[in-house]
Parts: sequence; structure tokens; C-alpha cells
Amino acid sequence: MARTGKRGRVYLVGAGPGDPDLLTVKAARLLASAEVVVYDRLISPEILALVPAGVPRLFVGKASHHHHVPQETINATLVRLAEAGHEVVRLKGGDPFVFGRGGEEALHLARYGVAFELVPGVTAAFACAAYAGIPVTHRGAARSVRLVTGHCRGDQPLDLDWAGLADPDTTLVVYMGLENLAELRARLVDAGLDPATPAALIESGTTPRQRCAQTTLEALAASAAEHAMRSPTLVVIGRVAALADALAWFEPIGAATGDVIASELASGGSAGA
Ligand SMILES: C[S@@+](CC[C@H](N)C(=O)[O-])C[C@H]1O[C@@H](n2cnc3c(N)ncnc32)[C@H](O)[C@@H]1O
Repeated sequence: MARTGKRGRVYLVGAGPGDPDLLTVKAARLLASAEVVVYDRLISPEILALVPAGVPRLFVGKASHHHHVPQETINATLVRLAEAGHEVVRLKGGDPFVFGRGGEEALHLARYGVAFELVPGVTAAFACAAYAGIPVTHRGAARSVRLVTGHCRGDQPLDLDWAGLADPDTTLVVYMGLENLAELRARLVDAGLDPATPAALIESGTTPRQRCAQTTLEALAASAAEHAMRSPTLVVIGRVAALADALAWFEPIGAATGDVIASELASGGSAGA
């Protein structure tokens, strides 16, 4: 792209989990006036469709095992575009500072003296849970909520505070946990959490492709396999997950074809679709 002569700026913008109606007003305004958009794999097609025609879009997405574009290259691209004088929207799924490496990108921009702004987005934990009918805190069921990553580098074991996480009064929301469900179950049960604790798997939450499988901690991996859950999927563990049945309100387009899943709770509870 050509140099413009003016000083550029990078907006690190949270796009939320997929539903364009969950974009903040500021995110929508910046998207409408962006000169270039740099975006990730998790940006939904519905949100990308809001980028005006003719505005260049650079895909820098990463899949867990296929690091298409190294983080250093993304950082360098942002600096290069801003130094060329562009108003850059760096669009990230959910919130840029929640498991989004937004901090690393902001630090890099700061180091290179590039002006930047942070635009928070609705993080997947809160939005996907809400769209699945799961209040992450609920009187008598959950006094706190914890957001953790279920992803670890290479073959390393998950390094989390298992004793602290195995709290029946807490809702545990696991990002990027799909590949480590068996370990997640084993570690939490070892640390004392009841295997019958309700759980839910939410795939492509808030989008027309949303699917939600209600299950238990014990049956998490089996449920994911049974329903062929794929990334992006969020894992919710805690008593509140059992409320999804009563509070389901969102009807994704796929629901009509039976894509909303409600497994029989292994604890004996009935979970209708
Ligand atoms: C790299 S993290 C990015 C999180 C993002 N920054 C946020 O605040 O939501 C990606 C993980 O977030 C979760 N996730 C993001 N969007 C999701 C969605 N629409 N439905 C289900 N899970 C989602 C999945 O666990 C996915 O593997």
C-alpha cells in the first residue's frame, strides 16, 4: 500500500464472538471508516461483511497447529502499515486482551512509537454463555467465574491451579480447551470436583452456526466426540451449565435442522433440546 504522508494509528478492536449485533458502537464506526483491516481466523463472515468494499483486508489467522502467520510478522505488519500513514483496524475475536495476544501487539506498537487505541469487545465466555442460556454467576449456584485457557504448548501438560479451580461454587470457562478435555476432566476430578458437575460445550456461539451440548464434567470428552464439536468451542463447567435447558432462548438458523444438542445429563437430569 502507498504511503499517505500522515501519521497512522492502529486500533486494536475486539469484534466480539461472532454476532455483528454484539460489536460495540465504536468498533462498528471504526470498521466503517478503516483504511485497512487486519483480521484473525475467528472473525465471523457476518462481521467481515461490514468492511466496506474496496478496503484491503489482510488475513493473519492462526489455527492451533497451523501458525499461518507468526506473531512477529503480524506485529511488524501493523507497524509497517501505521508508519505508511494508514488508519489500521486490527480486528480480533472477542476481546483483544482476553487470550487474544492483544497485549503483545500493543506492547510492540508502543515500543515502535506507533499510536494505538484499544477497543474492548465482548469476550466469548460471557457472550456464548448468555446465548446458550447460562448465567455465569447465579445466586446459589456460582459465586464467581474464572476464565482459563485449555491450550498448552506442544506436548506440555496443562499448567493450571487445579486445586483452586476445583471449586463447586465457581463457574469455570475454558477457552481453547477442546483438545484437552480428557486431561481437564482428570485434573479437576483429582483435585476434588464432582464428576457429575454439569458442563456445556458451545460451538460457534452467538452465530447462526451455534451448537450447544449439555453434559457433565465426566462426559465432556465423550460428548464432544459424539457431537463432533469443532473449533471454536468454549467449555463451561459448573452448576450453572444445567440452567441452559430452562433458559435456552437463542435460535440459531441451524436449530431447525436439529443442530442444538442437549444430551441427557449423566447425573440423571433430563435435557430436552
Ligand atoms: C484465541 S482465543 C480468543 C478469545 C477471544 N479473544 C475472546 O475474548 O473471546 C480462541 C478461543 O475462544 C473461544 N471462542 C471464541 N469465539 C467463540 C465462539 N464464537 N464460540 C465458541 N467459542 C469461542 C474458543 O474456545 C476459541 O478456541
